[in-house]
Amino acid sequence: MRGEENKPPVIAIDGPSASGKGTVAQRVACELGFHCMDSGSLYRLVALAAQKRGVALDDEAELAKLAQHLPVQFQGGEILMDGIRVTDEIRSETCAANASKVAAFLKVRLALLKTQRAFRKPPGLVAEGRDMSSTVFPDAKLKVFLTASTEARAERRYKQLMEKGMYASISTLLQEIKERDARDIERPVAPLRQDAGASLLDTTALSIEEAVAEVIARYRALVS
Ligand code: C5P
Repeated sequence: MRGEENKPPVIAIDGPSASGKGTVAQRVACELGFHCMDSGSLYRLVALAAQKRGVALDDEAELAKLAQHLPVQFQGGEILMDGIRVTDEIRSETCAANASKVAAFLKVRLALLKTQRAFRKPPGLVAEGRDMSSTVFPDAKLKVFLTASTEARAERRYKQLMEKGMYASISTLLQEIKERDARDIERPVAPLRQDAGASLLDTTALSIEEAVAEVIARYRALVS
């Protein structure tokens, strides 16, 4: 693409839920001094805004309007909606399931494109989600498809929730992850899949530190 070389570099990390891509993305961004964007939080915010405003989760036109004018502010690590802190609320499994429903609508996805691309600022961006490589940043410098076995992902999510003092059962989490994967993989619009230009990183047997080091090594190999 013409002029792309002047844009801040992007590292795109896509993958299924609970694959660890959020944590890996944050740490890679921190080590490189890059900005970080968790695109899933935007879909979660649309779902939460819909719930709070009584918009049905199958009303594509109204959901797209909400997505276009999300009353959201990102302040450091905190997310505010209508001025109220929703950082933890959007992390619930209900919000995750609702996010994957609203994310299936093309109009919602298009409405969020500009917001996502606005995160691309110097010196660079680590963007994580499902379609960072294929749609939002097709010119990303590095594209990684980060995954792990379903069991490993359920276990990680379980530990995360427990650390936050939120109750969870492994078998329920496993079921929810499978259902969300199926919805994300089978949807006709922007289905979850490894982009042709992305390299696979299976973290089932890797620690977070190892996964972070691997992404950074792949990036450095491209820019040096
Ligand atoms: O990544 P996270 O689990 O927070 O995403 C919540 C949901 O939002 C996913 O299950 C997926 O359906 C949707 N999503 C998406 N495209 C993205 C990021 C998230 O469709 N880039």
